[in-house]
Amino acid sequence: MAGHIKKIPIEDLTPGMYVEDVFSRDDVLLLSADSIIESEERIATLRRQGVASLYINTRKGKDVPQKLGDRVDSSLLREVEYYKELNKAREVRRKTVETAKDVLDSIRRGHPFSVSKVEEAAQEIVESIVRNPDALNSLCQIKGYDEYTYTHSVNVSVLSTSLAYSLGYNHEQLLQVGVGGVLHDIGKMRVPEAILNKPGKYADWEFNIMKKHPEYGLEIVSEKKNITEFSKAIIIQHHERYNGKGYPRGLSGAQIAEIGLIGAVADVYDALTSNRVYRAAWTPQKALALIFQGCDEDYSREIVERFTKQMGIYPVGSFVRLVSGEMGVVTRVDRGNLLFPRVMILFDASGKRLELPVEFDLAEMQKKDGDKRTLIDVSLNPAAFRVDVARYIDDKSPS
Ligand SMILES: [Fe+2]
Repeated sequence: MAGHIKKIPIEDLTPGMYVEDVFSRDDVLLLSADSIIESEERIATLRRQGVASLYINTRKGKDVPQKLGDRVDSSLLREVEYYKELNKAREVRRKTVETAKDVLDSIRRGHPFSVSKVEEAAQEIVESIVRNPDALNSLCQIKGYDEYTYTHSVNVSVLSTSLAYSLGYNHEQLLQVGVGGVLHDIGKMRVPEAILNKPGKYADWEFNIMKKHPEYGLEIVSEKKNITEFSKAIIIQHHERYNGKGYPRGLSGAQIAEIGLIGAVADVYDALTSNRVYRAAWTPQKALALIFQGCDEDYSREIVERFTKQMGIYPVGSFVRLVSGEMGVVTRVDRGNLLFPRVMILFDASGKRLELPVEFDLAEMQKKDGDKRTLIDVSLNPAAFRVDVARYIDDKSPS
């Protein structure tokens, strides 16, 4: 049997898996499902119907998580996988930022652009996320000063794709999310640069032009046959708001596609945590707190909650102070242990900058001696301490 078709017990079934065939307890084929499992309710129904095992297709949907054997070995294995992926993710990111630059610059000049290049970029993003979403996600915290438009396009693509992945979207859908993410702001290439890069507040007439960028974007891609409705939904809906107060169409609630709701959260998070001409980057916590306040008003609560889980309470790149007084940059988040990430300590308890940073694995320290000093006390603004967090997120992989 092909490696991507697996027989699993119903106990291992989770939303996001693609089911091909369903068997009863006595191994009789109940049905050929050929569908993605969308919810826990669907699993409960299958259980009630007496389903014992199923064939899943791991190319079309999620795989079974690796069984944890010896605890130390498995955590080491995850670590190696993360760092191995970080190297690949760095290359994926470099290439996709290049692609975004090519595409956006072509549109700005009124030249044709290649959809297949964007599809290749999306393909690489999806593959990296499926291997290990944490690697590419953490690189989203590296923000360039000059290349905002390009890095923002890639970051929205990465954050939307991994959110869609955690919601169980299949491979084809993930590709379309990736494409839509890279292209979500292409309409801005028709907005005069003087407005786009204006440092101060917009006058009403300027904002009215800015608000047209989703429509412009849709116009630009409408000539391309291979851009799907799914990708277009991100372009046209990423500024719609749950309460109907967004733009360009003022859609609300269920009128907005789920992928539009995802795009909105990914877009605003990356915009807030980036340096802009008119303000310095917000910390991840400040951005998450603002987004959370907008639940049910601006954003879908379900999507925001999922996003917070994905990013962690102290996302990679956060600058934090421990109860002990030591301060440093969060370099790694374990989804199962959000309160105890890894922190590269840069300042000692008296606030003196260390000559050589030391990395603390708060979870390990907590496990060993229950050391309360390893608790994170507060998240701070790194700029106030002249800390460039990007330095500690990247280039950490063992050589
Ligand atoms: Fe936008």
